[in-house]
Amino acid sequence: MSAGNCWRNITMESNEIIVETKDLVKTYPGGIKAVQGINLKIMKGQIYGFLGPNGAGKSTTIKMLSTSIKPTSGTATILGYDIVKDSMNVRRVIGVVPQDLTTDEDLKGIENIEMVARFYDIPRKEARSKAEELLSLVDLSEFGNKYVSSYSGGMRKRLELVVGLVHSPQVLFLDEPTLGLDVQTRTKMWDYIRKIRDDLGVTIILTSHYLEEVDSLADLISIIDHGKIIVTGTSDELKSNLKGDIIQVEFSSEEDARKFGEYGNKIDVSYPHPNEARMKVKDADTELPDIMKYLVANEIKPLKLSVHRPSLDQVFLEYTGREIREEESGDVRRSELNMRRLRR
Ligand SMILES: Nc1ncnc2c1ncn2[C@@H]1O[C@H](COP(=O)(O)OP(=O)(O)OP(=O)(O)O)[C@@H](O)[C@H]1O
Ligand SMILES: [Mg+2]
Repeated sequence: MSAGNCWRNITMESNEIIVETKDLVKTYPGGIKAVQGINLKIMKGQIYGFLGPNGAGKSTTIKMLSTSIKPTSGTATILGYDIVKDSMNVRRVIGVVPQDLTTDEDLKGIENIEMVARFYDIPRKEARSKAEELLSLVDLSEFGNKYVSSYSGGMRKRLELVVGLVHSPQVLFLDEPTLGLDVQTRTKMWDYIRKIRDDLGVTIILTSHYLEEVDSLADLISIIDHGKIIVTGTSDELKSNLKGDIIQVEFSSEEDARKFGEYGNKIDVSYPHPNEARMKVKDADTELPDIMKYLVANEIKPLKLSVHRPSLDQVFLEYTGREIREEESGDVRRSELNMRRLRR
């Protein structure tokens, strides 16, 4: 099976469906309903993000789509290939970076890529130039001949990212691409992920339980919980469904805060501290000039004023009834375990 170079043929047609699922279900032995009927369409060139807490069914969905496990029922196609009946063709056009690390730390970076290239029957010379190209893509060129055991956690994750690209796939699955990395290293990884989409035209499907990650990266987000997609939309669409911005103002007295709270055109108001008011309005940009006039007319001087737009945290809370951060104890524990693996 020769991969060829699919990348060169890519035209960015965003209306072309790359992944489509119909009522996809996975029930594990023991009756664990990990995925309970997922329907979605992913278009060419998109970065599509599954956002959900631990155990939501993200990895199970990725594993089914990438043909490593079979669905219990339902169907899915990748570039028109059925994930069960046509799994060989699916594997040819997809790359997968699983949640667990797969690179061999007893090999050098370049050897890891070449080893995977051999699985795809890529000729040795082609494999070497592909490995060099991929290492350069994630700024690892000068570390290609170093053993992976000497890599930092971030470097190893970067290597993992490009190992999945060795056969020039058109679709890349990234299961928790930044789990266990610190915030700075994580944001650098986002740049590499964007580069893979922008420079290589690869459609990317990623899972994450980091709100900031899907907010920053994904063109389309599906919030997944208990094996079901709760809502799908762009980050802005999801946030705008919450209807309203928060204007938070601090005053020198309780009386001023209360007077401010009497402003008419608001959705509601609360007082986190006696001298401080949190006012929800439909749109802060259009409301602020009138609010300023109201303050002047009533001779109220604010000490501090800030505007907060809805965050994805609030979206998650709204749709699932709980905060994604409530789940973090398990996540942090697992991240630490993962970091130990990354450091080993
Ligand atoms: N091989 C398996 N056998 C039985 N149950 C499983 C198996 N793999 C996952 N599960 C269960 O299926 C549910 C969904 O798990 P999955 O790994 O898909 O979630 P996830 O969203 O990827 O979570 P995480 O954020 O922890 O990676 C969980 O209840 C999990 O315990
Ligand atoms: Mg998972």
